[in-house]
Amino acid sequence: MTEAPRQKVSIPHLYEMREKGEIISWLTCYDFPMAQFEEHAGIEMILVGDSASMVVYGESSTLPIKMDTLIEHCKAVRRGAPTAFIIGDMPFLSYQVSPQEAVYNAGRFMKEAGCDAIKLEGGVRIAETVKAIVNAGIPVVGHIGLTPQSSSMLGGFKVQGKDAESARLLVEDAKALEKAGVFGVLLECVPTKVSMHIKKNVSCLLFGIGAGAGCDGQLLIIHDIIGLYQCFTPKFVKQYANIAPIILDALKSYKKEVREKAFPTKEHEFTIKAEELKKLEELG
Ligand code: KIV
Repeated sequence: MTEAPRQKVSIPHLYEMREKGEIISWLTCYDFPMAQFEEHAGIEMILVGDSASMVVYGESSTLPIKMDTLIEHCKAVRRGAPTAFIIGDMPFLSYQVSPQEAVYNAGRFMKEAGCDAIKLEGGVRIAETVKAIVNAGIPVVGHIGLTPQSSSMLGGFKVQGKDAESARLLVEDAKALEKAGVFGVLLECVPTKVSMHIKKNVSCLLFGIGAGAGCDGQLLIIHDIIGLYQCFTPKFVKQYANIAPIILDALKSYKKEVREKAFPTKEHEFTIKAEELKKLEELG
């Protein structure tokens, strides 16, 4: 793959895109080879999401993944996508205990992994923490609506803001995040009309995952759009490719050829000079 011919994506660049009416594309990514693909495809933003807990590590929720693990994933993604705007996702318990701990952990994403910003879940209840992180010079995206780290409290992975009162609370959350200094708010699983109502109430960038058209940017999980995660596909996902049968065919062919001794052949083998082989045989 050749280098993608573009400047490093920055926050002013993202705001310029909105000015021009261009919608920002945002995908999750967790490793070097996929980061190279996303960079090459010109994806503007990459989220190294705590969804890695489920789609990479096979856990049943996002809660178990640790800071250190996500930092290593961020480093790999940065190596593969040098110009994308990379966001490190603050894992459960990395920011809820105290604003000081939150600033320290957010700083690790920037300092150790070369991220451009961090994302955390929550609105009004997390505003003071967001303020502390922004005051440390770290750009923040707030994540509201369906917030998977609190799915137990929300009663599962459900659409949020379906009645006027819960939608009003989402507007309050978005406003509180904006006041605390975020450059963007991510809405997850929110009715489109509620997203557009929120859009009228904030001036920061509005991103959506299952929040309908009309947001400034769209986010999806890479494993979902290429058919790599087989356990569950949310309604808001569009699958752009199904690579699962391609992978399975390749693995079955490999197994068959190994069993039938059709692999490896001469073209995959290394050689030794005849005189060296003779010496080896004499050595016993
Ligand atoms: O971790 C993640 O991928 C996320 C998205 C589901 C919004 O937070």
